[in-house]
Amino acid sequence: MTTTLITGANKGLGFETARRLLAAGHTVYVGSRDLERGRRAAEQLGARMVLIDVTDDASVAAAVKTIEADGGLDVLVNNAGVEGRTRDGGVVGAAEVTADMMRQTFETNVFGMVRVTHAFLPLLQRSAAPVVVNVSSGLGSLTRVTTPDTPTYAYPGLAYPASKTAVNMITVQYAKAFPKMRINAVEPGYTATDLNHHTGTQTVEQGAEIIVRMAQVGPDGPTGGYVGAEGPLPW
Ligand SMILES: NC(=O)c1ccc[n+]([C@@H]2O[C@H](COP(=O)([O-])OP(=O)(O)OC[C@H]3O[C@@H](n4cnc5c(N)ncnc54)[C@H](OP(=O)(O)O)[C@@H]3O)[C@@H](O)[C@H]2O)c1
Repeated sequence: MTTTLITGANKGLGFETARRLLAAGHTVYVGSRDLERGRRAAEQLGARMVLIDVTDDASVAAAVKTIEADGGLDVLVNNAGVEGRTRDGGVVGAAEVTADMMRQTFETNVFGMVRVTHAFLPLLQRSAAPVVVNVSSGLGSLTRVTTPDTPTYAYPGLAYPASKTAVNMITVQYAKAFPKMRINAVEPGYTATDLNHHTGTQTVEQGAEIIVRMAQVGPDGPTGGYVGAEGPLPW
């Protein structure tokens, strides 16, 4: 039996990933920073729920204890993320972004990912087939962001793409450090969720596809990669 934790799974891509991995036979913990939102999602899915705010050491430590007491963890999906848009849904561009905005985005997308991964390492190392999926973005690709006449080139934000480039680097370095684990970064594609005020062009079913696929790689599967539904992405 494979036990899986998905952070930020009370809605959006995380919720859909939970639904699909449950269908594939995983025991799934819906990670949620809010008890009520998490409970509602877990009930709807028939999943377990664990309270986890990725920006909070104590919250993450408590989640580790809960999952350890229940028997351990095989698959960690680092999905929780924020884009840090303005109240009216606009992207914060280079002219407006401040160090504080940048810090807030990194707190969840980057430091949160490391906090959670670091805390769950002992449990993952006890698994026979440990897997980590880091939910990145195509906006983290330096190649794409510097290729003119593409939607990625045109994206004016600074904090979010920088955070996802950091996610890619973190993925590569963890993958090299832990060769027995399968650790990959994935790009779901532009998906309609609360994150982008539902401007995304894909459904969550389409977006979750690559997350679900990489959560199920076997011990001989790829590691240290950066992939989307169509295959590897340029760094
Ligand atoms: N949608 C896209 O087009 C797209 C494209 C590429 C990559 N992604 C990535 O996909 C992932 C999921 O995003 P989404 O589009 O599904 O957005 P979403 O619907 O806004 O979901 C984000 C999830 O992250 C949770 N979260 C935020 N901060 C958290 C924290 N400090 N601790 C724990 N959970 C936290 C949210 O919880 P609350 O409900 O409590 O806020 C929510 O469950 C993100 O990493 C995002 O960057 C999305």
